Amino acid sequence: MIDLSRLTYYIETFGCQMNENDSERIAGVLEAAGARRAPSAEASGLAVINTCAVRGKSEEKLYSLLGRLRAMKARRGTLIAVAGCVAQLHREDLGAKRPFIDVIVGPDNYHRLPELVAAAGGGAPQVSTGRTRGWREADRGPAVHPSPVSAYVTIMEGCDNFCAYCVVPFTRGREKFRPLPAVMAEVEALARAGAREIQLLGQNVNAYRDPESGTGFAVLLDRVAAVAGPGWIRFITSHPRSFGPEIPAAMARSRSVCRQLHLPLQSGSTPVLERMKRGYAREDYLAKIRILREAMPEIQLSTDIIVGFPGETEDEFRETLSALAEIRFANIFSFRYSPRPGTAAARAEDDVPFEVKRRRLSEVQAFQNTIQAELHRTLVGRTIRVLGTGHSRRDAAVYSGRSEGRQVVNFSASGDPVGRFVRVRITGSGPYSLRGEAVALEDGPAPSVDSCP
Ligand code: 5AD
Ligand code: SF4
Repeated sequence: MIDLSRLTYYIETFGCQMNENDSERIAGVLEAAGARRAPSAEASGLAVINTCAVRGKSEEKLYSLLGRLRAMKARRGTLIAVAGCVAQLHREDLGAKRPFIDVIVGPDNYHRLPELVAAAGGGAPQVSTGRTRGWREADRGPAVHPSPVSAYVTIMEGCDNFCAYCVVPFTRGREKFRPLPAVMAEVEALARAGAREIQLLGQNVNAYRDPESGTGFAVLLDRVAAVAGPGWIRFITSHPRSFGPEIPAAMARSRSVCRQLHLPLQSGSTPVLERMKRGYAREDYLAKIRILREAMPEIQLSTDIIVGFPGETEDEFRETLSALAEIRFANIFSFRYSPRPGTAAARAEDDVPFEVKRRRLSEVQAFQNTIQAELHRTLVGRTIRVLGTGHSRRDAAVYSGRSEGRQVVNFSASGDPVGRFVRVRITGSGPYSLRGEAVALEDGPAPSVDSCP
């Protein structure tokens, strides 16, 4: 048996914010069992990889890291645990092809990690990828929030939409909603600890319904926004299909809900959206954007775009470019279509050659860059509110942070602005970020890690 109280662990996280939040819970579960965090995989006794399966590329990252960890295991005896979406998707295969993995654990089973790790090292991997129906608060365990400044609070998990390209319903399972009292308890504890920003998480947050009372997302947002303390509240991800007008109304009611929204469009072409089984047409999406902008003229929007979905013609692709021109997103995340096992689209023939996908992706990105550069230029000379998050990657004398619209801002400051709201005068811009100088620190010192629940 492995003694967890003598074990150190390291977690490598791929994928979305949900995975980042899950890694905080994995850390919480391991620490409650006595393990301590190591500064690197090399220095650890247990290396956990929290994986993402959303695209082929994210999965490949796991396999190359596993190659390195295998060599490390041969030298130092490091235990290897594979968690997350790839573990769930390839549960049997993964261990059969790579028997050097010690633990394979899916997103519903992190509370079992201590017993799995304790029993590991005896040859065959310990596997726990069973599914649970409904939300189990008791199984979630405490999260170790690495930063009390900006904290995630999961409100739902899973997805019932079955978009034709998407593996998530197979990795995260059906929609499960966290009871409202548990959401509120976590939000209140974070507010007491001094969190400046709270981000509500779920694969489809606007589908939220409290399992007890049936209370929907707009009311949840009202309740969270009424908690005094956190300056900013955000939520991710919304689905356009179920994004009703009550949500922009709830956002507009509270000044602590950020004027910012991530609303995945995927394609600007109605026939492609139909083939993707998205459940809305281009016009429906545009109508939702109009409602949002009427309620909050200053709102900053971001989106996800897939290019080269099977059957996408050049004209259909141009519709995506024209949607970007019409909407003028503050930021986009764009991807080449990648077939995923088990999905409806993977069963159809993919007739868009790789070279065409590649060219369309660079066109989308170049076009969006010009839009972003223009949008950013209009901010030069203005003073905006920024939440300081750290040092600039390039220059330690320069701090970085995010605006309410989630734009990256690099700025000079005389006091320490990390973890605090700062007024920053914008002096320069590029397509990816803004530059500026702090003119005032708004509030008291940043909360410390010790104050975190
Ligand atoms: N291929 C390419 N991109 C995908 N996404 C999801 N599945 C795929 C896929 N099979 C993108 C979507 C989604 C984001 C998280 O990843 O744009 O919104
Ligand atoms: Fe990746 Fe989706 Fe899993 Fe997040 S939920 S880690 S995006 S596959």
